[in-house]
Amino acid sequence: MNTSSLVSIADISKQQMLDLLERAKYFEEHPSSDLLNGRVVATLFFEPSTRTRLSFETAVNRLGGRVIGFSDASTSSTSKGETLKDTIKMVSNYVDLIVMRHHLEGAARYATEVTDVPVINAGDGANQHPSQTMLDLYSILKTQGTLENLTITMVGDLKYGRTVHSLLMAMQYFNPTFRFVACDELRMPKEYRDFCDANGIKYTEHTDFSPEVINSSDIIYMTRVQRERFSDVMEYEKVKNLYNLRNAMLADSKPNLKILHPLPRVNEIDIDVDDNPKAYYFEQARNGVFARQAIITTALGIEIPSADKA
Ligand code: CP
Repeated sequence: MNTSSLVSIADISKQQMLDLLERAKYFEEHPSSDLLNGRVVATLFFEPSTRTRLSFETAVNRLGGRVIGFSDASTSSTSKGETLKDTIKMVSNYVDLIVMRHHLEGAARYATEVTDVPVINAGDGANQHPSQTMLDLYSILKTQGTLENLTITMVGDLKYGRTVHSLLMAMQYFNPTFRFVACDELRMPKEYRDFCDANGIKYTEHTDFSPEVINSSDIIYMTRVQRERFSDVMEYEKVKNLYNLRNAMLADSKPNLKILHPLPRVNEIDIDVDDNPKAYYFEQARNGVFARQAIITTALGIEIPSADKA
């Protein structure tokens, strides 16, 4: 397996995360360069995406590199029966880095085992979304001035939401207090509750998105109920509208509160929240370009001479 890949947030240390955040800050201040001059990056999206693919591609373009790839696997030879292994081996002949989203948990890890080209996991099923986590951390750091000692409320689909799984693991270094708000069907999975227990991470579970929960939060991380992960559509229909954040619910929230959402949203955040200064989800998505510039250059071992001074 190659070692410069980013498959799971659990694969990188606290210091590596902090280095990536420092780089993201550098790229926010220096958005365009030719650091990737002559390099080619593949974006292989076997699942739909707007933000992740386009922000990775923007990141490559702003770094002076080139992008190849597909956004719809039905237009690739996967539709003719080509295996993931063969696809990865072929694409590895053409590029310096592979960014991949796939519906199967473990697909990105598998890809690293069949190629020497670094692989960035852009989401594998309900498992992990580490580049999202880096932009989430960057957004939290920018808005709170620290990653330490924050109360973070995760709301909605905590079972299938890979972004909350990755973020939970990343926060292990920063003494968070989590509030998990979900119905029984979409409860935070046991493996992640066990992870909290094993690492001394404080959390409480709630089925009610109550004023007490909202008003004690520094970050509210809303999530979409992931229809595409349900095998029974009736089960999805039962839970899809359980949690909805409206502007009036924020009246007594903390001054420093920010509302995050990895997006896309469906109806879990009312549009009347969008103009509230505590709504941060669109800026959060913008931060994705800087975080991904940091990830790409780090994976390719590209030095940022003034990163330390950014
Ligand atoms: N946050 C996120 O992964 O969005 P996309 O599915 O649009 O890439």
